[in-house]
Amino acid sequence: MIRLAEKEDAPQIAAIYRPFCEDSCVSFETEAPDAPEVAARIERIRRRLPWLVDERDGRIAGYAYASPHRERAAYRWVVEVTIYIHEAHRGRGVGRALYAELFDRLRGQGLFKAYAGILVPNPASQAFHEALGFKPVGVYRKVGYKLGAWRDVGWWELALRPEIDSPAEPTLPPQTLDPKP
Ligand SMILES: CC(C)(COP(=O)(O)OP(=O)(O)OC[C@H]1O[C@@H](n2cnc3c(N)ncnc32)[C@H](O)[C@@H]1OP(=O)(O)O)[C@@H](O)C(=O)NCCC(=O)NCCS
Repeated sequence: MIRLAEKEDAPQIAAIYRPFCEDSCVSFETEAPDAPEVAARIERIRRRLPWLVDERDGRIAGYAYASPHRERAAYRWVVEVTIYIHEAHRGRGVGRALYAELFDRLRGQGLFKAYAGILVPNPASQAFHEALGFKPVGVYRKVGYKLGAWRDVGWWELALRPEIDSPAEPTLPPQTLDPKP
């Protein structure tokens, strides 16, 4: 079941994410966020954008969310996307299903492009993003220093919809609208 993340999901999300901070360069964070920090991130993201989890048998199998790409106003129609699947659930379509739902919601908010910044090499993530339709943009070389070496980050882009002139303002996700009196 794919649904919006709640702050109660934070401990499981933090546990999925922790090894990518502590033991690998997949994330450029060097200290894994604890559950309260993840809960705060969920709340912050969900004010404007979707954060989704795939729940199977009461456990979080993976999660995906969108975040602003850059702060300057002209960037407001594009987002970055992030995805992590629990190792026990990889290769079973969880990532594909999460991204499909995420992109539907982003299109619904009037957004045009999603960007993924991927440590390179990361063959699984690169193949996954290209299987989902992302196209390579370019590489930031030696842009981060972690675990004793300089690391490259490749950028991939996905057109959520064709660009049009005079795009409508992006909308907030439906769940953040105030309930009708
Ligand atoms: C990369 C990741 C998100 C993929 O999620 P997933 O649920 O395992 O992927 P899916 O099973 O939905 O695969 C969808 C497609 O991606 C491709 N793919 C997925 N994993 C792959 C792998 N290890 N090698 C090659 N291709 C792969 C396949 O083309 C697959 O196509 P299929 O649907 O015909 O099988 C997941 O492996 C993961 O969380 N990895 C660790 C964290 C990470 O690298 N996150 C991304 C940070 S940028």
